[in-house]
Amino acid sequence: MSAARFENIEACIFDAYGTLLDFNSSVGRAKDTLGENADALSSTWRQKQLEYTWLRSLMGAYAPFWQITGEALDYAMEARGIADNGLRQHLMQLYLTLDPFPEVAATLKVLKQAGIKTAILTNGSPQMITAACRNAGIDVFLDAILSVDEIQIYKPHPSVYQFAVDRLGVAKERISFQSSNCWDAVGASHFGFQVAWCNRYDQPLDRLPAEPDAVIQSLAELPSLIGTK
Ligand code: LAC
Repeated sequence: MSAARFENIEACIFDAYGTLLDFNSSVGRAKDTLGENADALSSTWRQKQLEYTWLRSLMGAYAPFWQITGEALDYAMEARGIADNGLRQHLMQLYLTLDPFPEVAATLKVLKQAGIKTAILTNGSPQMITAACRNAGIDVFLDAILSVDEIQIYKPHPSVYQFAVDRLGVAKERISFQSSNCWDAVGASHFGFQVAWCNRYDQPLDRLPAEPDAVIQSLAELPSLIGTK
């Protein structure tokens, strides 16, 4: 795995949560209320949210990501001994106004100016991701926001990545896929995209049956990776 340049890229597809939008910013804005519980709550919330997507996919029991996000929050709050329905509602609303990572808008703009198609491929429910992108001011730089809700199964099932190919009408070899979630980057690579793992959190590589083609620390590295500048 190295930062070899990608070739013949026509479209860049991005994961949303953790890649474009900072899911920690929800709990971060409630730090006054949560105090020392904040970091552990955020981490358990995210971990359970992901686990529930994988488990529900295995069980054949799809539910929208908004529901799963709420159920994961219920688990995380109970695990920290927090019973506060007002806080629950507040944290869920904050999920609709997550901060984008600092380089995101400028990077999307550079890609668009270079004639590259840009899209999100996310587990997020349509209303939830649309609201978050609009609030973050990045919707204007995106050609498509694709939600797994249309096919009712979660990443990293290969049908999710195929759904993006079908909707964009671009061959998978000409698509560059970016995710900060290593397991998602691996899933996309296994499927056949050219993949950059944006390792924002300095994590080890997941031991799974594929590897990303490149590792970057910030999406600002993407335009040169795909040769637009
Ligand atoms: C998403 C989650 C996996 O946006 O971050 O699909």
